[in-house]
Amino acid sequence: MGDRLAGKVAVVTGGCSGIGLATVRRFAEEGAKVVIGDLDDANGERIADEIGGAYVHCDVTDKDQVDAMFATAKEKFGSVDIAFNNAGISPPEDDSILNTDLDAWRKVQEVNLTSVYLCCKAALPYMIEQGKGSIINTASFVAVMGAATSQISYSASKGGVLSMSRELGVEFARQGVRVNALCPGPVNTPLLRELFAKDEERAARRLIHVPMGRFGEPEEMANAVLFLASDESSFITANTFLVDGGISGAYVTPL
Ligand SMILES: NC(=O)c1ccc[n+]([C@@H]2O[C@H](COP(=O)([O-])OP(=O)(O)OC[C@H]3O[C@@H](n4cnc5c(N)ncnc54)[C@H](O)[C@@H]3O)[C@@H](O)[C@H]2O)c1
Repeated sequence: MGDRLAGKVAVVTGGCSGIGLATVRRFAEEGAKVVIGDLDDANGERIADEIGGAYVHCDVTDKDQVDAMFATAKEKFGSVDIAFNNAGISPPEDDSILNTDLDAWRKVQEVNLTSVYLCCKAALPYMIEQGKGSIINTASFVAVMGAATSQISYSASKGGVLSMSRELGVEFARQGVRVNALCPGPVNTPLLRELFAKDEERAARRLIHVPMGRFGEPEEMANAVLFLASDESSFITANTFLVDGGISGAYVTPL
């Protein structure tokens, strides 16, 4: 147990699995009160009990549910200091633009991009009133690099998250609110495993481009999010925070 987030209240979306779950646990270890928003009610209640936080059933594409989630943080724990807007999907129907229909496109845009708009819109008034706050939106390394193994709506949604985070970081910098985009490289979570279970060759093709030669672990993302959430990163805003095993810096990777 540490105290790097002592006295702070955090909202984490997608907190029942993968990067979100590791971050919920890391935040709690460092003294934060955490409100988890997710669709996974069975696990949500259990995890909230485990960390002494709260669980709210929240579909991040629904404005009323998102507003209620942030209101819960304020009412139950007294403030909204940190928003980790992280829920996202990567369904197999989202593929090359040639094979991706409009429904698949729209679904990913709603869950990955509109959700971040809704969460930022809900969190900002609390933070502006407090004169402080840290928002971290989960984008991806695919927001800054192109892949021939395309998921066109996913990549476009993450580009949107990155630009939105940058713009909000600039707009609200003088009101004490920092907004950064976490850009993970490929991370060993159910989301990635589901995608690659379909096609092992596709997984191997991606791994080749990571200089470290492995996928990241959720805990490695959580440590980066903890830094961005805490006052240790007080001069960092509107940032493209790449945590990617070197992938975005590489041209030729080690054998
Ligand atoms: N895993 C990777 O390689 C990787 C790489 C870059 C970026 N990301 C991003 O990181 C974030 C987390 O990914 P992960 O790998 O931990 O995924 P995950 O599938 O392990 O967890 C995602 C969580 O989001 C929840 N969720 C899904 N749709 C939701 C909705 N509409 N409302 C509320 N909750 C919802 C799920 O129930 C789940 O608990 C996503 O935004 C993803 O795009 C992941």
